[in-house]
Amino acid sequence: MSSLRLAVFVGSHGRGSNLMAIQSAVSAGNLPAEIVCVIGTRADAPAIARAKQAGLPTKIVSPKDRSDAEYADVLLRVLRGANADTIALAGYMRRLPSPVVQSFPNRIVNIHPSLLPAFGGHGMYGEKVHQAVIDTGVKVSGCTVHFVDEEFDTGPIISQKVVPVEDDDTAQTLAARILPYEHAAFPEALALLASGRLRVEGRRVRRV
Ligand code: GRF
Repeated sequence: MSSLRLAVFVGSHGRGSNLMAIQSAVSAGNLPAEIVCVIGTRADAPAIARAKQAGLPTKIVSPKDRSDAEYADVLLRVLRGANADTIALAGYMRRLPSPVVQSFPNRIVNIHPSLLPAFGGHGMYGEKVHQAVIDTGVKVSGCTVHFVDEEFDTGPIISQKVVPVEDDDTAQTLAARILPYEHAAFPEALALLASGRLRVEGRRVRRV
């Protein structure tokens, strides 16, 4: 078991609830980790405000007015400056630049609010995911924690939690039912990573 030095990326409009769930698990002693940096794209994101309130170090790196290569360079500088060894994407909507993905092999983890590979991919975020679930008529949804590769939502799956879809669900009610499962699943998956018990074999992640 080693303690993670965790950089958490949050979204430009993210609430930061998964960030806070991770921080709570750290504080409660359920996740051997230190959040060494919270990285956002916008200073006015609610998630950044919550991070600051919690006394976590924050850094804003905007992709605006930067080439992909410049954005990647700055991110890598920030990550190295914080001595991060693991990255959690908690509401970050963009594709991480390739040099960042390649610098942290099997050390970048994302949470997605559906049972991947269903209802994932480019443009599938927030209520769009839950509306698509409802429109498709599936009876279960949930959340997925997975390693990040260079595409959207396609990396090897670490864990999933299943949540029922009710007949009268709206995107909002379904999102609200799934969110607490996300808050449990993300720190649990990070704790498994910290335990050194995860092995990635092709598309499969095994617990050894
Ligand atoms: C969560 O639903 C997560 O699954 C998705 O983005 C949302 C972020 O919410 N990737 P929050 O900012 O953690 O509250």
